[in-house]
Amino acid sequence: KKVVLAYSGGLDTSAIIPWLKENYDNCEVVAFCADVGQGHEELEGIEAKAIASGASECHVVDLKEQLVTDYIYPTLTTGAVYEGQYLLGTSVARPIIAKAQVEVALKVGADAVCHGCTGKGNDQVRFESCFAALAPELTVIAPWREWDMVSREDLLSYLAERNIPCSASLTKIYSRDANLWHISHEGGELEDPWCEPSKQVWTMTISPEEAPNTPEYVKLSFEQGKLLAVNGQELKADKLLEVLNILAGKHGVGRIDIVENRLVGMKSRGCYETPGGTVLMAAYKGLETLVLDKESLKYRESVALEFSHVLYDGRWFTPLAEALLAASATLAKSVTGDVIVKLYKGQATVTQRRSPNSLYSEAFATFGADDVYDQKHAEGFIRLFSLPSRINAMKQQSSSKE
Ligand code: ARG
Ligand code: SIN
Repeated sequence: KKVVLAYSGGLDTSAIIPWLKENYDNCEVVAFCADVGQGHEELEGIEAKAIASGASECHVVDLKEQLVTDYIYPTLTTGAVYEGQYLLGTSVARPIIAKAQVEVALKVGADAVCHGCTGKGNDQVRFESCFAALAPELTVIAPWREWDMVSREDLLSYLAERNIPCSASLTKIYSRDANLWHISHEGGELEDPWCEPSKQVWTMTISPEEAPNTPEYVKLSFEQGKLLAVNGQELKADKLLEVLNILAGKHGVGRIDIVENRLVGMKSRGCYETPGGTVLMAAYKGLETLVLDKESLKYRESVALEFSHVLYDGRWFTPLAEALLAASATLAKSVTGDVIVKLYKGQATVTQRRSPNSLYSEAFATFGADDVYDQKHAEGFIRLFSLPSRINAMKQQSSSKE
């Protein structure tokens, strides 16, 4: 028996290694770690740590650029925002991690995959739905749904009893999940929705109160829906996002504090920071307003709503997701041009936009000269457009006379 574990180097997945060996007849445990931009502290020395905990090997896979180009940008073109606020930072990273984990499992000839998600959250559903779509033959092991350890103390003493070194501390207040796009914070005092998050919650952004008193303008250049340059500088996709994260974080942009509906039925309270993503989404939608006609934009908005649930619920590898992404990719073809976003005390405001595909015409919109738009034509249009209302009203009037 061989198991590939999605390993983070944290306390939970460190305890899972010996637990798997003890509970699944001395199986071989291969650690798999996805680099999705969670930061150096988490990744440093991770191979040695995995081996020290009992893994036979450790595969670290760099997914940063692919996460941005193949998952984040396509999601951006759908405009998806979960329940009106959440930019889906954790959700969007799950499919790529699951896919890379399955690839390792197939490469090393494993018969099972394992994750450290709790039995109460969305992530278990997302990982396992992706596993099911990509490699239904693999067995899934979810220790949190099996063992009876419940606290960090339990996990620490489990490791101590087995003389496995662990640098994790007894107190860790928040459950966090970080990648290039965002960081999430849950748990601790945040479990009380009447409790304002304390200062120590936030890690990617400065508070809007402490942000600079002078605004900063940032120029984003898009080509067919893809971000090409920031302030005229062309870089690889993941680097551009890093640049945006720093600029926006400095101005306190991208914080949200919400109560959301989890797929498993309960509500949860979370704080999220998506600094660069917030700027990117504002700029993208700003450019769309120039190039999409009314019906196309309305349709794109319906895709956004549908895709926000598809992605949140972990249904990335499905025909529906593919269809929605294909539709938004088609509309994204005209999203080319520049947008200037003003960053100021937590706000990202679009102040300028231009596009070679712009449908906006000053000549049509102006209140002055009338040579391109004859106001007389509006009369007939309105007459027909409102005909159903007219017929309905006439009908009511005649029947109330009877
Ligand atoms: N509630 C968010 C979501 O479902 C964030 C989940 C964070 N996950 C984690 N393992 N800490 O997308
Ligand atoms: C977890 O329970 O593993 C994290 C929270 C979530 O997935 O919603």
